[in-house]
Amino acid sequence: MTSATVASASGPAGEFSGVRVLVTGGTKGIGAAVALRFAEAGADVVVAARTPVDEPPTGRFVAADIATADGTATLAAQATHMLGGVDVLINNAGSQTHIPGGALDAADDDWYHDLDTNLMSAVRLDRALLPGMIAQNRGVIIHITSGQARLPGAASLPYAAAKAATTVYSKGLANEVGKHGIRVNTVVPGLIQTPAVTRRLDQITADSGQDAETARRQLIDRVGIPLGRPGRPADVAELVAFLASDRAAFITGSQYAVDGGSIPTV
Ligand SMILES: NC(=O)c1ccc[n+]([C@@H]2O[C@H](COP(=O)([O-])OP(=O)(O)OC[C@H]3O[C@@H](n4cnc5c(N)ncnc54)[C@H](OP(=O)(O)O)[C@@H]3O)[C@@H](O)[C@H]2O)c1
Repeated sequence: MTSATVASASGPAGEFSGVRVLVTGGTKGIGAAVALRFAEAGADVVVAARTPVDEPPTGRFVAADIATADGTATLAAQATHMLGGVDVLINNAGSQTHIPGGALDAADDDWYHDLDTNLMSAVRLDRALLPGMIAQNRGVIIHITSGQARLPGAASLPYAAAKAATTVYSKGLANEVGKHGIRVNTVVPGLIQTPAVTRRLDQITADSGQDAETARRQLIDRVGIPLGRPGRPADVAELVAFLASDRAAFITGSQYAVDGGSIPTV
C-alpha cells in the first residue's frame, strides 16, 4: 500500500475491506445507496441522519443534525469513536427550500437554512475529520452537490448557490490537502429517484391535480434528460465508490456529473 492508499484497485469484491467510511444522510435515497455500496465491498460504515431508523442500511447509525455546529461536532466525535478514525467521508446530506415566488421571496432564514445544510455541514465536518486524515497521510472526501450549482432553479436559489459554493470550496480544499495524500472531489447528481423527489412529485400532484405519471413525465421533460429517465440512487453510488477507490488515485479537485446528460453545455 502506498501512503495515500485507501482501498485496493482490485475491483468491487472486498475492495473497501478495512476502510472506515462515514456517510451523512445515509438512511435514505442517495446516501443509503452509497452506504450499502461501501458495506457490500467490505467497508466499515457509519451513517448519520436526524431521524433514527429501525434498520440502518449498514447497522451503525448516529443521530445528528448536520445543519448545526453541535450536530457536526457530535457526529465527528461519535463516528471517530465507533470506527477508530475515518478514511472516507461522504458529505451527502442536503436539502432545498422551495421558494415558489423566487429570489425576492427568499428570506434570510431560507438562505441560512440552505447554506447551513448544504455548505456549512460539509465545511464543519471536513474541518473536524481532516486532522485525523492528515495524521495518517491518506483520506478521501466527496461532496455531493447538484446540477443546480450550474443551472439554478427558479424556485431554489439559496440551494443552488449553496451547492455552487460547495463546488468552489471543494476545489480549494483539494488544492490544500493533496500534499497529505488526501483527495477531494465533487459528485453532481441530476434528477435521481429518491424520497426527496417523491415528496416533490407528491407536492406537484397535489398542487396541480395531475395524476402522478403525468407529473413525473413533466418533471423529466422540464429537467431535460437525454436518457429519458431519472437516475437511480445506485447510479450515484457507483460513481462515488469509484472516486473513493484507488482506481481514482490520480483524481482530485474534480467534479463529475451523474445526470443522464442533463447539463446541456460542454
Ligand atoms: N434526488 C435528487 O434528484 C438530487 C439531485 C441533485 C442533488 N441531490 C443531492 O443529493 C443529496 C441526497 O439527496 P436525496 O435526494 O437522497 O435526499 P433524501 O431522499 O431527502 O434523503 C436525505 C438524507 O439526508 C438526511 N438529512 C437531511 N437533512 C439532514 C440534516 N439536517 N442532518 C442530518 N441528516 C439530514 C435525511 O434523513 P433525516 O431527514 O432523517 O435527517 C436522509 O437520510 C443531497 O445533498 C441533495 O441535495 C439530490
